[in-house]
Amino acid sequence: MLDDLERCLLSSEQIAAKVADLGGRISRDYKDKNLIVIGILKGAIVFLSDLIRQIKIPLYLDFIAVSSYGSSTESSGVVRILKDLDKSIEHRDVLIVEDIIDSGLTIKYLMENLAARSPNSVKVCTLLDKPARRKTQVLIHYNGFIIPDEFAVGYGLDYNDKYRNLPGIYVLKKEIYGG
Ligand code: IMP
Ligand code: MG
Repeated sequence: MLDDLERCLLSSEQIAAKVADLGGRISRDYKDKNLIVIGILKGAIVFLSDLIRQIKIPLYLDFIAVSSYGSSTESSGVVRILKDLDKSIEHRDVLIVEDIIDSGLTIKYLMENLAARSPNSVKVCTLLDKPARRKTQVLIHYNGFIIPDEFAVGYGLDYNDKYRNLPGIYVLKKEIYGG
């Protein structure tokens, strides 16, 4: 598995410091709100499980699973919900937690879909942002790290469902994903 990696992009220590910072900001911003954290399966689960332990106010937790049609390294913008939320988000303050925003098409679809369910608010927290490949404008309220246009794996992020368990974030060798 380690032979497939080009270099380390973010160490687990760098990630932990950023997650603590994001958790602190979210705790302050949502102090008097009705926070529900929604994780996007599966990529966001490692980030989400660390992030919620840095949020010091009560919260609800739910998950949504989506698949975007397209190749394994490029999304097409056509999004399908594979697993929907368990409960209503009406009158709640939704914070969507995503691993990475690339073209922006997935998050744009999800923000619009959730906004139509009468929540108080909908905001986005992403660990990684790859702005070079954006196809649609998205407002990211909480942004961990801006990364270059390379394929990142680890800390939840996968290529063909592999590498999610790496503790840091790494650039995958181009010969692996054919980029
Ligand atoms: P978007 O719709 O293009 O913004 O795609 C976002 C989704 O694509 C993320 O939730 C990831 O699952 C996947 N993705 C985009 N870039 C990467 C990457 O560098 N590594 C792993 N997954 C990625
Ligand atoms: Mg994902």
